[in-house]
Amino acid sequence: MHVLVIGGAGYIGSHVVTALIAAGNRVTVFDNLSSGLRINLQPGAAFVHGDIRRPDSLRAALAADVEAVVHLAAFKAAGESMERPEKYADNNIGGTIQILNAMTEAGVSRFIFSSSAAVYGEPEYLPIDEDHPQKPENFYGFTKLEIERLLGWYDTLKGVRFAALRYFNAAGYAPDESVVGLEQNPANLLPVIMDVARGVRRELQIFGDDYETRDGTGVRDYVHVSDLARGHVQALDYIDKNDASLAVNLGSESGLSVLEILSAARWITGREIPARTVGRRAGDPAELVATSAFARETLGWKAELSDVDSLVETSWKVYRRYL
Ligand code: WQD
Repeated sequence: MHVLVIGGAGYIGSHVVTALIAAGNRVTVFDNLSSGLRINLQPGAAFVHGDIRRPDSLRAALAADVEAVVHLAAFKAAGESMERPEKYADNNIGGTIQILNAMTEAGVSRFIFSSSAAVYGEPEYLPIDEDHPQKPENFYGFTKLEIERLLGWYDTLKGVRFAALRYFNAAGYAPDESVVGLEQNPANLLPVIMDVARGVRRELQIFGDDYETRDGTGVRDYVHVSDLARGHVQALDYIDKNDASLAVNLGSESGLSVLEILSAARWITGREIPARTVGRRAGDPAELVATSAFARETLGWKAELSDVDSLVETSWKVYRRYL
């Protein structure tokens, strides 16, 4: 199948591109390179430099017998989304509407959407399943939920079959080092720890150690980006074979705390990685862990590389290139 991967030069997007090519698909990457990197572009994929907010560039990309779209292009900083909602509304929601309209004009009806655990908000029970109440705590999560609701209408009215994949915490790098781009000025835990380990950041600030968790620090469901990427291939197969849409969690089901990741990183990198506990970060829940039983049942998906050592080892293999 010819798949257009929008955001395919990004950290997760480029891993999805490699997985789609490995599964025998033809891939064209569409990216504005606002955060995606040219170094992440995969040799087997064509590249269109375009922006989802400009419909003409989208129509041109879709005209080349595209049969499915994977959309991962979004701004994702939860904190920034609360200060600049207009930026997130315009790009995340407005941009996706442009994509959907360009797709229906071109007769493309398979859509894989990068959604997020952020649609759930504060957990009311754990592990989180797909029936958990959806009350996003930040505008970023709101944009993801709004897009999922739009997709329901485009399925009913325009026959767009979609898979909304609710990622928990993506981490790690492909073991074959097919992707080697580093996120600039990361806010997520593992890239921050890697930046401290390679000496470009002085210390890790631990956002609170007084949570009701086994060691007081925040627990999250980290899922290896290669596991996530495989989930996209399986989701495309699913909607193609079943002519049906679904929303599904992609999580490893095992929670890791900040301190557990930090100690694994110190051991694997052999670096001190200085850390200091500071106040809690606004909006952080104590624990967020998924059940991916539904993903297993529908997509046949399960996390295979999401143990703490694989997450840290595969990250360090890439980061230590940039010492
Ligand atoms: C993880 C844990 C922090 C940085 C975010 C988005 C979410 C999704 C994944 C897109 C928490 C702690 C972190 C640091 C720390 N993104 N931490 N010091 O907040 O769980 O989720 O990324 O879909 O939508 O909200 O990820 O990596 O920021 O935090 O102590 O410098 O690490 O408190 O417990 P988060 P994170």
